[in-house]
Amino acid sequence: MTNELFELARRRRSCRRYSGEKIPDEIVDEILKVALLAPSSWGGHPIEFVVVRDKDMIKKIARCKRMGAGPLSQADVAIVVMANTAGLELWIEDAAVASTYILLAAEQFDVGACWIHIRNRAGQHLSADKEIRQLLGVPDNFSVLNVVALGGKGENKSARAEKDLPFKNIHREKFNL
Ligand SMILES: Cc1cc2nc3c(=O)[nH]c(=O)nc-3n(C[C@H](O)[C@H](O)[C@H](O)COP(=O)(O)O)c2cc1C
Repeated sequence: MTNELFELARRRRSCRRYSGEKIPDEIVDEILKVALLAPSSWGGHPIEFVVVRDKDMIKKIARCKRMGAGPLSQADVAIVVMANTAGLELWIEDAAVASTYILLAAEQFDVGACWIHIRNRAGQHLSADKEIRQLLGVPDNFSVLNVVALGGKGENKSARAEKDLPFKNIHREKFNL
């Protein structure tokens, strides 16, 4: 039996250069549907997504992170991943799982994707999180974990080879030093 998920996961690479091709809304919706299937603590589905297609707004969002958001400014779509964090202990984990589902779903449709980290990152004046929330009108009780940049692949990265996986990180029965 082919391990289709393994094949997908080894093809998935961070794509930081985009071709400028428009990703159809239907594909973006398919990717988001997968994100909504992500497991969450207590099955509470607390993660919310702001999908931005407006290019000027995407560039503004990219500028909210002082360093390292270059790829985002060229993306076709930005998915801003956030949660209402009030009293929610595991929102980071929930948002990270949902983001990972987005990355894998994007690869399934041969769409380039990259996790652009936002939480605990500096903005121009405030935190990147706060500046993005102000731009998008997100209430103060929310926090942004990251933005997933999507776009047509403008670079060709090779799939990871099975022989290069860090198998040493797997311990069996006990932790082996
Ligand atoms: C928690 C997390 C934060 C990341 N932050 C960024 C980021 O801010 N900018 C970026 O270009 N890539 C970011 N990445 C992508 C990683 O750099 C990338 O996954 C890693 O180098 C491995 O490469 P690959 O995705 O091609 O396998 C992040 C990934 C994770 C999981």
